[in-house]
Amino acid sequence: MNSLNELIRFNNGAVIPNRIVMAPMTSKGASWDGIVEQDDFNFFGRRSETAGLVITGATSVSKLGEKFSYQMSIYDDRFIPGLTELARLIKRNGSKVLAQIYHSGANSRVSYEKHGMVVGPSAIDFPHLPYEVTELTDEGVWEIIHDFGESTKRVIKAGFDGVEIHGAYSHLLQQFFSSYSNKRNDYWGGTLQKRMNFALEVIKLVQEVAKEYAKDDFIIGYRLTQEEIHEHAVGYDIHDTLQFIDRLADTHMDYIHVTSADYGKEIKEVINGRTAFIFVPHVFNVQDAIDGLQYGDMISMSRQALIEPDFAKKIKEGKEEDVATEITSSEMAKSLAFPPKMVDWLLDPKGKNLVPKGMDYLKEPVSDRS
Ligand SMILES: Cc1cc2nc3c(=O)[nH]c(=O)nc-3n(C[C@H](O)[C@H](O)[C@H](O)COP(=O)(O)O)c2cc1C
Repeated sequence: MNSLNELIRFNNGAVIPNRIVMAPMTSKGASWDGIVEQDDFNFFGRRSETAGLVITGATSVSKLGEKFSYQMSIYDDRFIPGLTELARLIKRNGSKVLAQIYHSGANSRVSYEKHGMVVGPSAIDFPHLPYEVTELTDEGVWEIIHDFGESTKRVIKAGFDGVEIHGAYSHLLQQFFSSYSNKRNDYWGGTLQKRMNFALEVIKLVQEVAKEYAKDDFIIGYRLTQEEIHEHAVGYDIHDTLQFIDRLADTHMDYIHVTSADYGKEIKEVINGRTAFIFVPHVFNVQDAIDGLQYGDMISMSRQALIEPDFAKKIKEGKEEDVATEITSSEMAKSLAFPPKMVDWLLDPKGKNLVPKGMDYLKEPVSDRS
């Protein structure tokens, strides 16, 4: 049997039917207000058999936490109906589904556009941001932690199997962990241990909410980026991260998920079986995924999931050779159900490192091609 087909049981008892995870992807199928709509139903509904565990794109827990336009939000009860339908569509063939909950802090450029303000751990004049960042008060930090808790309640109401707390890609949780963006000298910063406190408090509250309102097997995972290195400054390096992972693994959460193929061996060693490790080998074919299991208990993939929505299904059926590794026609491109705004985003030259092979077929309608 292909090792990818082995089931896995998380710390909380939840069973995932295979080792394949669809990594979170912002899909831009929601309304400008963040309500999940038909484009996202089509995109995620088409991916109900991509992986045993499917994670939604980043979903904002606060009004001031939005980085991307047309992304999903969860900071109010009015978002619950759309998310409920989304969860139902993804789960209908037996996969588990998690909402990735996040706040983009200083990088919330869409919130700035909508509300004229962004918040972060410290008021730093970042060269890459065209606006000022307002430093969070201690009370403000607790309010955002509260937002993560309230959003978890909504995730539960919407019928998801769990949450992934998004501590990666320079969003607010990472901004607190980074000495580049966190210059505080209170409970939330000043030492490496204190820079972990924001994440640890978010996790604690999410776990408490889950204990009170969800079933015992509600899944709680944490995603992080292994290192933050700027041209002239190090926000944190792998040594800091390994200490952080050691703390995270002691919180009894269900998994730790990274964002790249760096330091797989070191991370596996530090976790040492205390929680599941979701590794990112950068999967472009079935063999890449199998190879990734040397470090990860599971592997996650994103660009491959864009190209082959039936990835896990085909592996389960022993049809590995049928797994697509590039888009080869306009008809195929259409069948992949990408939200139109996601296509525009992927084809934007600024995002070209994310473009899966063959995306050019999405540029023109079928009738215009010879
Ligand atoms: C279109 C697109 C949107 C993404 N959105 C998110 C996101 O919302 N949250 C997140 O944690 N990662 C996001 N990512 C990063 C992926 O989850 C993944 O870490 C990255 O693409 C590397 O994996 P890969 O080599 O399998 O593509 C996104 C990637 C792509 C291609």
